[in-house]
Amino acid sequence: MHKTRKRGYNSFYHMGKTYIIANWKSNKTAREAEEWFSLFKNAPIAEDKIVIICPPFTLLPITSTIAKEKQLQIAFGAQTISQFSAGSYTGEIYGAQIKEFGLYTIIGHSERRTLFHETNEQLSLKVANAFSSGLTPIFCVQDADTFIPEGVGLVAYEPVSAIGSGNPDTPENAQAVAATIKQKNPVVQDVLYGGSITAENVKSFTDQPDISGVLVGKASLDPLSFNMIIQNS
Ligand code: PGA
Repeated sequence: MHKTRKRGYNSFYHMGKTYIIANWKSNKTAREAEEWFSLFKNAPIAEDKIVIICPPFTLLPITSTIAKEKQLQIAFGAQTISQFSAGSYTGEIYGAQIKEFGLYTIIGHSERRTLFHETNEQLSLKVANAFSSGLTPIFCVQDADTFIPEGVGLVAYEPVSAIGSGNPDTPENAQAVAATIKQKNPVVQDVLYGGSITAENVKSFTDQPDISGVLVGKASLDPLSFNMIIQNS
């Protein structure tokens, strides 16, 4: 189904496309990532789909290299970004380091907010750093009232109860939340849904007029099920 959207936050390129984004979280070694790509079907991805893989930082070089070698139409992103620039920030990865391998970064995932106590102030700094490095933030919100930093155009609605639970939101409620997010934040052009997406339920979400795609956790760890999600979206 084709959707008409206003010219957006980023570029003409994104207009009306469906995003299928994999969030591998803290999973996979280099060897396991190679196995994933050896099983991932190298089928042409429809032009109206944007597939993005967000592996752990350690796997960004190897996965992006494999994808290039296999000529896969896949973009890459990180799962978070430093709130700082280059410098003495032990353990952090900043925007230009991500930009060497990818074009996107997830920011504000509920696991970062809950387990690592990331605050709205920190998330705003991260968004600003993503923009200044030429990265597109995929900003996660837990409901329609979650604060969204200035300039964010791509949002993922992920209700906490739906993440990793096998208990997704209903497509109708996700649609209503997506529409409200856009209404409240006129800069937001694309709202994705995330939380217990599978090959079986993906279409019921991507069919919604205000849902521009999906953010997939667990089901993206298996290349065959991720293939099916892309195909069925
Ligand atoms: P899930 O995770 O697909 O395993 O529910 C989604 C996410 O946390 O991004």
